[in-house]
Amino acid sequence: SRKIIIDTDPGQDDAVAILLALASPELDVLGITTVAGNVPLSLTSRNARIVCELAGRPDIPVYAGCEAPLVRPLVTAEYVHGKSGLDGIVLPDPKMALTDGHAVDFLIETLRKEAPGSVTLCPIGPLTNIATALRQAPDIAPRIAEIVLMGGAYFEVGNVTPAAEFNIYVDPEAAGIVFKSGVPLVVMPLDVTHKVLTTRARVEAFRGLGTQVGHAVASWTDFFERYDMAKYGSEGAPLHDPCTIAYLLKPNLFTGRHINVEIETEGRFTTGMTVADWWRVSNREANAMFIGDVDAEGFYALLTERLAHL
Ligand code: BDR
Ligand code: CA
Repeated sequence: SRKIIIDTDPGQDDAVAILLALASPELDVLGITTVAGNVPLSLTSRNARIVCELAGRPDIPVYAGCEAPLVRPLVTAEYVHGKSGLDGIVLPDPKMALTDGHAVDFLIETLRKEAPGSVTLCPIGPLTNIATALRQAPDIAPRIAEIVLMGGAYFEVGNVTPAAEFNIYVDPEAAGIVFKSGVPLVVMPLDVTHKVLTTRARVEAFRGLGTQVGHAVASWTDFFERYDMAKYGSEGAPLHDPCTIAYLLKPNLFTGRHINVEIETEGRFTTGMTVADWWRVSNREANAMFIGDVDAEGFYALLTERLAHL
C-alpha cells in the first residue's frame, strides 16, 4: 500500500478526506499533520483527533504544526465551517493525545527515514507546514514521491477573493515555495472541486449507510451546504478535499493538464491567485498536473462505498 501523510486544517471536507483515506486499504496513513487554516491550530488539531476516533483509528499519530502563515497574519473561515471548524454534529472530545513533536519535524524525519520516492504528501489546507519543511530541509524534496494537494482555481477563480482560493490565499508565500520545489505536483483546484457537489441524493446515501460515520458525514455536508448553496446557487456544496484522496485511489476519475502554475504573492487584487498556464501561452516550465475535470458520479460511488467500511 501507498504511504501518505495528510496535512490538514479540519474542516468538514478535510474530515471526509481523512475518513476516505482511513477507509482505504490501498493507503497507509503514516500520520496526520495539522495546520492553522479554516480555524486556529488548537481547533484543527482537536478536530483531526475527533475524526481519527470516529474512524476507530486512535492509533494514527497526529502532530500539530504551524500556528500562522509564513509572513502574514492568519485568515480563518468560521463563516464556512462554523466556530469549531467541524460544526454540523456534536462529537465527543478526543481521548487520544497529540503525538509529541512538531509536524514539520515529523515530515522531515519521516521523509529522511522512508525509502526515497515512497511517501506521498496530501496537503488539504494552507501550505505552511510543507513549505517550512522544504525550507528547513531541502534534501527532502527529491525524496517526496508526489504532492497531491487541494488548492487554487483557474476558470472558476476565487472563493475567498475574486482571484484566489482559500488554501493558497491564506499562505501564498508557502504555496510559492511548494510550487517552485520541483516535487511532482497534482493540484485539485476549485475547477474540479466545484464539480463534485453534495446533492440531496448523495447526502442521503451517506445517511443511508446507517453508521455513525455515515451520519456524521451527512450532518457535516448538510451544514456547509447551507452556506455554499446560498453563495453559489448550486445544487449542493463542493466537497473539495476528498478529491485528493480519491485521486490516489482512482486517478482515472480525473483529467487535467501538465502545465506551469505560478503563485501571485504581490498582486493588488490578485494575491494568492494560481496563475495557471492552461493554454500554454508562456514558455515557463510545467510544474504541476492541474486537474480540470472529474467523473462526479464515480467519485461519489467510491466515497460512499469506502465510508461503508468504517
Ligand atoms: C479549501 O478551503 C477550506 O475551507 C476547505 O477545507 C478546502 O481545503 C477550499 O477552498
Ligand atoms: Ca481544508
